[in-house]
Amino acid sequence: MALSYARLGFYIVLFSFITLQSIDSKFAPTWDSLDKRPLPQWFDDSKVGILICWGVYSVPAWGGWGAEWFWWWWKGANQTKYIDYMSQTYPPGVTFQDLAASWRAQLYDPNEWADIFKAAGAKYVVLTSKHHEGFTLWPSKVSWNWNAMDVGPKRDLLGDLAVAIRNRTDIHFGLYHSLFEWFNPIYLKDKANKFTTQDFVKTKTGPELYELVNKYQPELIWSDGEWEAEDTYWNSTNFIAWLYNDSPVKNKVVVNDRWGSRTLCKHGDYYTCQDRYNPGKLQNHKWENAMTIDKLSWGYRRNAPLSDYLTMVELTTTIAETISCGGNILVNIGPTADGRIPPIFEERLRQMGQWLKVNGEAIYGSKPWAFQNDTATHGVWYTYQKATDSVYAIVTGGKMPFGKLMLGAPNPSPGTQVTLLGYTGGPFRFDRNPPGGIAIDVPAIPASQMPCDWAWTFKFTQLAN
Ligand SMILES: *[C@@H]1O[C@H](CO)[C@@H](O)[C@H](O)[C@H]1NC(C)=O
Ligand SMILES: *[C@@H]1O[C@H](CO)[C@@H](O)[C@H](O)[C@H]1NC(C)=O
Ligand SMILES: *[C@@H]1O[C@H](CO)[C@@H](O)[C@H](O)[C@H]1NC(C)=O
Ligand SMILES: *[C@@H]1O[C@H](CO)[C@@H](O)[C@H](O)[C@H]1NC(C)=O
Repeated sequence: MALSYARLGFYIVLFSFITLQSIDSKFAPTWDSLDKRPLPQWFDDSKVGILICWGVYSVPAWGGWGAEWFWWWWKGANQTKYIDYMSQTYPPGVTFQDLAASWRAQLYDPNEWADIFKAAGAKYVVLTSKHHEGFTLWPSKVSWNWNAMDVGPKRDLLGDLAVAIRNRTDIHFGLYHSLFEWFNPIYLKDKANKFTTQDFVKTKTGPELYELVNKYQPELIWSDGEWEAEDTYWNSTNFIAWLYNDSPVKNKVVVNDRWGSRTLCKHGDYYTCQDRYNPGKLQNHKWENAMTIDKLSWGYRRNAPLSDYLTMVELTTTIAETISCGGNILVNIGPTADGRIPPIFEERLRQMGQWLKVNGEAIYGSKPWAFQNDTATHGVWYTYQKATDSVYAIVTGGKMPFGKLMLGAPNPSPGTQVTLLGYTGGPFRFDRNPPGGIAIDVPAIPASQMPCDWAWTFKFTQLAN
């Protein structure tokens, strides 16, 4: 069949139209334009991620609040306890740079890490490519002699984890990156110039970010260290426009909100607002609760007692609160300088995975429901699955509610069924609560049939609301 000229003409017009459309739909380097980009679906569906804070601070691995700020507490804020600790532990005259040589990562097995993250039920992982100390975990071309290939581990720590995760799991691989560096002389010079010069961005931050994306193709960039200067100093919108329009990850990459002193909680694919952000109510923009298993610190602390680690009841409660309100949860662990994930972190992660194996139906791919927490019973958090029109009530606090469970939010219909995730003995009897809500008869479940510990999920189908 011959193509008529008229039809050919039509196709040419159609083709040019589509081409123009795609040029038109490119993002301009302004927040106005960048903020209109739809969030790649994988991020909202994932819900649970793991953050790994690993750096030269993992060598002293000591302190209180924020041990990953070790260099700063010691040489920037001059805190006596850090000065004393260093003089008691290391020979006189030791510098922070000297510590990098002791970062050997000799027991680092990225395959084992990837298997732990998978067992944890995480759908994305974020590794610190560089923290505020400036040390890069990959052989950066612009971090001469202050990177993991030249000093210490003598290994591309970052690249090896990326390979292991991609080879063994379907976990999305992301990178944390600090824009500023406490003691970098080029940065300090720009700062002394009140950020009217951009030498640090031109020679360090910018090249580093492009190198990271082109070489490792992260699906998430967790930017940080933004607060001392405006996004215009950091050239953030230009970088993000490239990321969205032309980078090798343009269709799937996600960025957070830390791109300049006034971007937090305002711009970016999703908001982090503040560390451990957990607002307890529905937010109108995608957000993430970046929190730590060691309650005080992101970097590993050898001096942390057991009581400084979150219990599984605390962790599952935080997961339920976060997901109900539309957030993702990013759970931080701190590996050791010799490359291990300490057993306390491994145990928490594996337990989280056990819990998610039973309760993941209420978590992954869920949406917030009409209510976030219950109006009658404290500590009950709701999620919703659109595909099955099911509502989930996650009962937190560590006590399985045997007997009558009174909930104020769900209104049953005649067709409603109430079950417990992971338990085959349902559905449960219930009564309509006259002032609204539902009273569920929860039978005494034998320990051998208990689906999980720490928090339990009741599933409702065909609710009237
Ligand atoms: C800490 O000591 C350094 C070097 O002596 C000094 O430059 C700096 O101002 C001090 N910082 C504070 C917060 O005192
Ligand atoms: C990828 O994983 C498989 C099996 O899990 C393993 O045999 C193989 O060596 C791995 N490849 C790399 C490059 O790590
Ligand atoms: C900012 O980004 C633009 C576009 O990529 C580039 O032309 C410019 O050189 C960058 N400025 C700095 C200071 O890096
Ligand atoms: C629900 O959450 C809000 C906000 O956190 C809180 O003020 C309220 O007490 C909670 N209600 C119950 C019943 O837990």
